[in-house]
Amino acid sequence: MLSLSNEEKIIRDLREGRTAIAVHGAGFIGTVTAFFYAQEGIRVILYDIDKRKVDIYKSGECNVINLESWSGFHLKEFIDNGTIVPTDELKDTYQCPIHFVAVPTEKGGDPYIGYIKKTLEDIMNMDPTLIVIESTLAPSWVNQLKLRQFPVCLAVRRDWFSNPQCTIKSLPRPFCASTDKLTYLAQKILGLVCDKLMRASSMEVVCLTKAIENALWHVQLVSVQELATAFDCNIDEVLALVATHPERKRWYPNMKIGGYCVELGSKYILESANRPENLSLFRDAVIKNNQTTKTIAKKIIEKYPGTVGILGVTYKNDLKVHTLTCSTVFIEELNKVGRKVLLHDSFYSTEEIKKFGCIPMEYPQDLSQCDIIILTIDHKEYYRTPLHLLKGLIKDDVLIIDNLGVWKRHEKYFKNYNQFGVKWNI
Ligand SMILES: NC(=O)c1ccc[n+]([C@@H]2O[C@H](COP(=O)([O-])OP(=O)(O)OC[C@H]3O[C@@H](n4cnc5c(N)ncnc54)[C@H](O)[C@@H]3O)[C@@H](O)[C@H]2O)c1
Repeated sequence: MLSLSNEEKIIRDLREGRTAIAVHGAGFIGTVTAFFYAQEGIRVILYDIDKRKVDIYKSGECNVINLESWSGFHLKEFIDNGTIVPTDELKDTYQCPIHFVAVPTEKGGDPYIGYIKKTLEDIMNMDPTLIVIESTLAPSWVNQLKLRQFPVCLAVRRDWFSNPQCTIKSLPRPFCASTDKLTYLAQKILGLVCDKLMRASSMEVVCLTKAIENALWHVQLVSVQELATAFDCNIDEVLALVATHPERKRWYPNMKIGGYCVELGSKYILESANRPENLSLFRDAVIKNNQTTKTIAKKIIEKYPGTVGILGVTYKNDLKVHTLTCSTVFIEELNKVGRKVLLHDSFYSTEEIKKFGCIPMEYPQDLSQCDIIILTIDHKEYYRTPLHLLKGLIKDDVLIIDNLGVWKRHEKYFKNYNQFGVKWNI
């Protein structure tokens, strides 16, 4: 009988259920990792420090909003057959030879090394065979975390959940391990769920790939934002025509590029560059991205009295992440001057809405109380609200600021309707 290499034995034991992989962090990234390996019949110990989340997961409910519909997987199926085992006990991961790390690397909208540092310390106490880091890292952290000294493989995640073409399986995935031997093992492990692996020459290259692909996007999106504020012309129409050039993409005006990926890309490279003074475009993009919303908020405060209703607090539709969003800037600026602010977002509980320092808004009924309505994001719920309801509730002279054009088709019924980058008269 042929003798198996260590790597082959590890894969065999995973496939035959003798061992399991551990995933640290049961958010968007970690849960998707768990889904893909579970689909291959590999047991997953899904560890998270958030006991509340783990308890919900144990019941089979996936409380990461819309993740199941985007990914096409159902957590309950894997919980019921025992392939995914959620836990908030670190010790449950001790026996796992392979650990995936998908913990946050951002805090308050800025890069933050603390969670990953702690996670690596925890895992190193367990004598792991391989640690696969899926979290996005600033390139300078490779040295700060001494990653080359550990059995580590960096394999950043680039998949985009709402796009079925961009999955962990189909998207090319750069990776780099600390030794050649580990590279072979990492390739086997990652190759179980990913069709296109690309070995990078260093860990820094892997980190920079992810950071720069986001940073370039960030700068372009902020340029579009600048154009929208610099012209009275319908910039959205111009951008649609620009996109008819076969080499150009379609860009859309947006008051603020939010979330913990795109803007963080610029921040990760600013934090890591050997000569950060050469990165003025990226630095300006970070500053400008915040200023646009602040300037609009200032205008509202100066020119438009009364109650403000804010619809949506997330950075993307039908997803529950409010990091660096325009809503949070509006709320902060309006709260500073004591303006009455009603806030609605169906993905947040009344208690969560109160934590923003706002009055929870009943939608759509409470639109009748608003003198200014700021529609920040294209949640389907807002798009679906019928015109007759809106007309019955929104007062005649209400200032409507529609960031993404969700109510564009109703524009002629509201005399003070504004869409960022399209029709702007405030
Ligand atoms: N969401 C995306 O689209 C995306 C895409 C590519 C990369 N990333 C990166 O992946 C990483 C994770 O992002 P996410 O979207 O999954 O975040 P998330 O906030 O959805 O989930 C992170 C989870 O980690 C848990 N956690 C925090 N500290 C922990 C610890 N010490 N041990 C175990 N669990 C811990 C949190 O409770 C949370 O449930 C980040 O670095 C992010 O930048 C995210």
